[in-house]
Amino acid sequence: MQMPSATRPLKRCLVTGCAGNVGSKLTQTLLDMGHAVVGVDSFFSGLPANMEPFKDHALFRFERRSITEPELIASLGAVSGRFACVFHLAAIVSVPWSMEHPEETMAVNWDATRALHREARELGIPAFVFAGSAAEYGRPIAGAVQEDQASDPQSPYGWSKYVSSRHIEESGYGCSLRFFNLYGPARGKPGPYDGVVRRFMALALDNAPLTIHGQGQQTRDFVYVHDAVKAVVTASGLGNGGVGLQGVYNVGTGSSTTIRGLADLTIALSGADCGVCLQPKRDGDIEHSLANTDKFHAATGFRPSTPLSQGLGQTLDWFRQHRSEIA
Ligand SMILES: NC(=O)c1ccc[n+]([C@@H]2O[C@H](COP(=O)([O-])OP(=O)(O)OC[C@H]3O[C@@H](n4cnc5c(N)ncnc54)[C@H](O)[C@@H]3O)[C@@H](O)[C@H]2O)c1
Repeated sequence: MQMPSATRPLKRCLVTGCAGNVGSKLTQTLLDMGHAVVGVDSFFSGLPANMEPFKDHALFRFERRSITEPELIASLGAVSGRFACVFHLAAIVSVPWSMEHPEETMAVNWDATRALHREARELGIPAFVFAGSAAEYGRPIAGAVQEDQASDPQSPYGWSKYVSSRHIEESGYGCSLRFFNLYGPARGKPGPYDGVVRRFMALALDNAPLTIHGQGQQTRDFVYVHDAVKAVVTASGLGNGGVGLQGVYNVGTGSSTTIRGLADLTIALSGADCGVCLQPKRDGDIEHSLANTDKFHAATGFRPSTPLSQGLGQTLDWFRQHRSEIA
């Protein structure tokens, strides 16, 4: 990733969801690189505290707005100049909430995404990077899933991401990055993907047994959030002066970890003496989730590389210092 230089002109970026867990880390990274950022968030799930480190940065401007507002980019661009990239991360991310509110979920995650994407394209913005999701893979698939195997998402959340990714792919403009299980330092309620990591950490820090549903042989592809941010920046082309990537790409590590393995690692890293407690399996829990990461690697040369033990160790350190953030 390039650092700011006196000779290189700054680029302007729009980050939707800048108060969220991923969006705030992305915003910080872009500012560190010397880019200017206009951040939009409605605080639906994001928090002002996530923007604390950069809220007064000279190159940052925050707009508390909803992505559902018509002609959003034009109204922001009028005061910010032309954007080099739209990073579209704002979304309703809770799967249970999406089950209870399918229409609102589709309005934010699909209708607003389609409108932002159309607007960005019409304005000639060189790059559009959208946060897709592993939830787009509804049907169980043996082995590592490839991008063209997505179908039958199991929730309105999954559907909203799936139709958005397909729309972006078919348009030939912009890209969708399907994040697998992101984990890392995070404020607010646990999300659908980092829930198990945070639950295990909360229990280990209390020296209480880690609860596993089933035998713990379910597997997940855990991606450290900072690797996900690097993938997003890479896809934008900002790092190498090129145009943004096109199409749909998995962002995972390509390695799976059993839930039992995650529990053992968490216990070892925390120094707890608590063991695990096996409970009945939960209905609806998928058995395996693993990304085939070849397509993104072939297009960009990038693969998330933070070892799970390192990422978990850093996450644990953060939660130790921010005990109130872990439920
Ligand atoms: N965390 C993961 O494991 C994961 C996995 C797959 C995909 N994703 C996707 O990555 C993106 C970021 O996820 P996150 O984990 O940072 O979640 P997050 O909830 O922390 O961030 C989402 C942000 O979008 C904002 N938002 C919601 N509705 C809005 C609206 N109408 N207008 C403006 N802002 C709005 C929220 O306030 C929040 O700040 C999301 O699109 C999510 O679906 C995340």
